[in-house]
Amino acid sequence: MPSLTHLLVAEHAVLAALFDEIDGILDHARSPGEVNRLARLVEGVLRRHGSAESELAYAALDQMLAERGELLQLHQDHREIDAHLARATIAPDLHEARRLLRRALAISRAHFRREEHSVFPLFERAFNPEALEAFGEAALQRYLDADRDPAALSQSPR
Ligand SMILES: [Fe+2]
Ligand SMILES: [Fe+2]
Repeated sequence: MPSLTHLLVAEHAVLAALFDEIDGILDHARSPGEVNRLARLVEGVLRRHGSAESELAYAALDQMLAERGELLQLHQDHREIDAHLARATIAPDLHEARRLLRRALAISRAHFRREEHSVFPLFERAFNPEALEAFGEAALQRYLDADRDPAALSQSPR
């Protein structure tokens, strides 16, 4: 069973590859509707990832007062990504929709690096291997439950 952090880092890699593909498609998008749909796709895949992350990893670290400042920054990143994506899903202008989605992708990439360099190592030091695996198992179970019943997943992205 992978630890929660290994699972999240693997997802970052998959998401980053997806973002690269979307960047390429954006170059050729010819209507705002195309970009709006791509933004909804990104919203959907980030919702699953972010909800496991904030409800398991962030929530556990939140018990440790010393790490709150870093966590606040990560929550702020999530809100900023969400805000850009929400606007990109409805922007009626092609250039504005593309700008918003590209910005959301750029903030997400930087956010992944911040998590991997600051918070995930803290998380790994804070818990023993058995606990890390138990968190990983909880995350996998959440994903399986969400596949069976998408409404079970938190509606608040990340
Ligand atoms: Fe995150
Ligand atoms: Fe993440």
